[in-house]
Amino acid sequence: AEVSALRANKERLAIDLHESCKWGFGIRWGEGSTDTGMQRLALSEEDKSVRDWFIQTMKDLKCQITIDEMGNIFAVRPGRRTDVPATFIGSHLDTQPTGGRYDGILGVLSGVEAIKRMDELGLETEGGVGVVNWTNEEGARFPISMIASGVWAEFIPLSQAHELKEVPTVASLPTASSAPDTMKSALEKIGYLGSVPCSYKTTPMAAHFEVHIEQGPHLVSAGQRVGVVTAVQAYRWFRLNVIGRDTHTGTTAFEHRADALYAFAQMMVRAREVAASKGCLASVGIIEAKPGSVNTVPGTVSFSLDIRGPESALVVEVENQLRSDFDAIAAAEGAGIGKPCRVEWTLDFDSPAVKFHEDCIDCVQESAHAVVADEPVADTKSLVRTIMSGAGHDSVFTSKRVPTSMIFVPCKDGLSHHPEEFCSADDCATGASVILQAVVRYDRK
Ligand code: GLV
Ligand code: MN
Ligand code: MN
Ligand code: MN
Repeated sequence: AEVSALRANKERLAIDLHESCKWGFGIRWGEGSTDTGMQRLALSEEDKSVRDWFIQTMKDLKCQITIDEMGNIFAVRPGRRTDVPATFIGSHLDTQPTGGRYDGILGVLSGVEAIKRMDELGLETEGGVGVVNWTNEEGARFPISMIASGVWAEFIPLSQAHELKEVPTVASLPTASSAPDTMKSALEKIGYLGSVPCSYKTTPMAAHFEVHIEQGPHLVSAGQRVGVVTAVQAYRWFRLNVIGRDTHTGTTAFEHRADALYAFAQMMVRAREVAASKGCLASVGIIEAKPGSVNTVPGTVSFSLDIRGPESALVVEVENQLRSDFDAIAAAEGAGIGKPCRVEWTLDFDSPAVKFHEDCIDCVQESAHAVVADEPVADTKSLVRTIMSGAGHDSVFTSKRVPTSMIFVPCKDGLSHHPEEFCSADDCATGASVILQAVVRYDRK
């Protein structure tokens, strides 16, 4: 078949995608809304159900299934040769607590659609073509994002991943399990603790491609259809504790307090200022103040800090500036009583900036131009751009071991991690068509 003519089936992709979202909780966000949005926390009962569905679907397509000890699911459509690894399409079926139906899900379902289309056309490939569902990409329930591809790439030790505990605030959501789980116990509970080692050596790949919604405003605001992703920005995740002193709110003058929450508030403001001054981002997403009483000044605050920027060195610059600024803020709070607050930092996760592989980028670029050639505009080339990813993806870790790149499609308002996240059926199909062509082009290179 002429590669440039390959297209995904838009209607089938849309049906499969929404079908797969019946396992999970639709999130209501306003008057009259019903069933968009998605909550499917990693390794929950809903995640088990969608995994079962995914495996059955791929078995029906005569794919070979492998489940590793991180619960990653690999489904391979064999090629002519069995002595070379398959080219993979991968992403994730888990979502944020207030997630949508496209972040991750589109990537996996585009893989399913690619296999269906290849079968329909009787298209043979040299190596196999695989689809992989990576566990807990979001890092929402178990707070390291991309953890299972990180173990696969041998950048995160299996034991660290297995022992990782779920975030209590996420665990206390009504839809999550009641007693806090580790990743290992959660994998066991839903029957997805596979026996195959989680490693790129055991489940090798020729290459890894991923379709994803952009999760940002560039494509949608420019009216562009495809982003050829060449790089991913750097990020570091920290857990910080601010330690002051609990005391009575009614009897303790301000100058007699070591108020950990007041110090935290200044730190949060400072984090934004410093990050902004260096073209980076800094965000707090989890905060816990103890003891959590109306009339006790909090003596302990724990919070998460996510710092991101286009270069790894810039992220470290922001971090170093904040380490000294936070110390100064802490030292001032409680100084009057000779009991200043102090700050402790723990680095939980470090994801340096990534550059994707030229060969994969070329395949995506050629495929993107071929697919948008259908569009009724004179200059279809202008519908495609290169782009850097602001978010992390499993492709970050696969890129450390195998040639990798990604395809972005526009999403409404650039919004994600929100129930109103939306990508039109046309844009979903464009992404699926591009990845279908990209894997075939890569296979033929
Ligand atoms: C991972 O998806 C991240 O960017 O947080
Ligand atoms: Mn994602
Ligand atoms: Mn996400
Ligand atoms: Mn992500």
